[in-house]
Amino acid sequence: MTRAEPEIGPGTKGATDAGEARAPEFQARGITRVYRIGEVEVHALRGVDLDLFEGEFIVLLGPSGSGKSTLLNILGGLDGPTSGTVRFRNHNLTSGDEAALTLYRREHVGFVFQFYNLIPSLTARENVALVTEIAASPMSPEDALALVGLSGRMDHFPSQLSGGEQQRVAIARAVAKRPDVLLCDEPTGALDVKTGILVLDVIDRVNRELGTTTAVITHNAAISAMADRVITLSDGRVSGMHRNERKASANTLTW
Ligand SMILES: Nc1ncnc2c1ncn2[C@@H]1O[C@H](COP(=O)(O)OP(=O)(O)OP(=O)(O)O)[C@@H](O)[C@H]1O
Ligand SMILES: [Mg+2]
Repeated sequence: MTRAEPEIGPGTKGATDAGEARAPEFQARGITRVYRIGEVEVHALRGVDLDLFEGEFIVLLGPSGSGKSTLLNILGGLDGPTSGTVRFRNHNLTSGDEAALTLYRREHVGFVFQFYNLIPSLTARENVALVTEIAASPMSPEDALALVGLSGRMDHFPSQLSGGEQQRVAIARAVAKRPDVLLCDEPTGALDVKTGILVLDVIDRVNRELGTTTAVITHNAAISAMADRVITLSDGRVSGMHRNERKASANTLTW
């Protein structure tokens, strides 16, 4: 049963033939993740079913420990579930094939984390080039940095950039390979409000202009106004989901 739901779709890559039946880009079914530390078992995910559609902007909310990062890592192929299946297009991410998972991450997924993980001894341009050198059809590091508004900072080292600028380099690095999916785990967690809005605006632009399916984890409920759909996790389960009639742009958010 893979009939489309015509009302679902963000409208960017939704430019694909109107009326065409659309299967979800991601299909997660019965995802559980149990961490075992010695005798102790932690049930991080307790049975998550989720469909994500191409080009969607998703915000993932939920209390600390509810399983948000675990879910995002599984969608991004950084981790595997204890049970359940995840499909991305025609890839089965839960077949146990590590080489296939590595290829999936390399070709399809961009990650952005709370801490930027830039290499301190490389300039902004070189940090982005690390990724573009191994990608199949990347944009140039210059174009990627221009997309995040950092044309004037290409030859700066991370220590010469503000936190927000470093995060934008990290976003340029994530999107330079033109991933189909951008997964962001608390991308504004370490930033002040004004800088956070700048970073969210960049993520929003990537979603709209490149049609990249985007998921953003946040503790800040105000950010959910930017999403097509907001998904809430509680204690390892999806406890809420709602669709925004209209999406807010980053610079109208207040928190
Ligand atoms: N590598 C790990 N080993 C053991 N337990 C883990 C591991 N990673 C996560 N957990 C546990 O799984 C549960 C879910 O963690 P997860 O990091 O997904 O939560 P989260 O919703 O992202 O929380 P936060 O908002 O604090 O980042 C937590 O109870 C956590 O302690
Ligand atoms: Mg987390």
